[in-house]
Amino acid sequence: MAEKLTCRLAVLVSGNGTNLQAIIDSIAAGEINAVITCVISNQPNAFAMQRARQHGIPTVIHENIGFADRRAYDAATVEILRSHQVNLVVLAGFMRILSDVMVDAFPHAIMNIHPALLPAFQGLHAQRQALDYGVRFSGCTVHFVDGGTDTGPIILQAVVPVDQDDTEETLSHKIQHEEHRLFPTAVKLFAEGRLQVTGRSVRILP
Ligand code: GRF
Repeated sequence: MAEKLTCRLAVLVSGNGTNLQAIIDSIAAGEINAVITCVISNQPNAFAMQRARQHGIPTVIHENIGFADRRAYDAATVEILRSHQVNLVVLAGFMRILSDVMVDAFPHAIMNIHPALLPAFQGLHAQRQALDYGVRFSGCTVHFVDGGTDTGPIILQAVVPVDQDDTEETLSHKIQHEEHRLFPTAVKLFAEGRLQVTGRSVRILP
């Protein structure tokens, strides 16, 4: 029988990198047949970069300096990703909106995690939006990235209850707990070739 190919990931970050850590741990535990070829940050001081270095993962600081526009920046990102022969791009707290240059280069191969139950509360401060709206439940969503902001085909979701005493901080904490389980699961499904996208719908194959 032919040996299964190892999925080659790139993780794009801007901040703390707890989701990156969850994926690193899941690969190290042998739960995902994948290798993180590089971690790319637009923020040189992102703590996520320290996490990557600690695990011997190559890092690339890719600041938005000297690029004419978003598409030019993304063209440079695509070059980095191609040079690492990446199969799946994972946005783990990457605080930039992607242009068509990135989205078209990796169709149905860019995943994002959003701290709300999409399509509710798209964009920034999703936890604040959920509290302000008064919903009883929120959660997180892993989705493929398309041309919009937080609009692509949904892969997995997890629900958390919103309690009346929740603050933005406590709700974020509860959501992150679920994120750290959900994101590695979605990456695993992709690595196993079990995500079939038809239009907006993502079918999980057995
Ligand atoms: C997560 O809450 C995710 O939902 C959002 O950005 C945050 C990143 O957190 N897109 P971390 O850097 O992985 O800790």
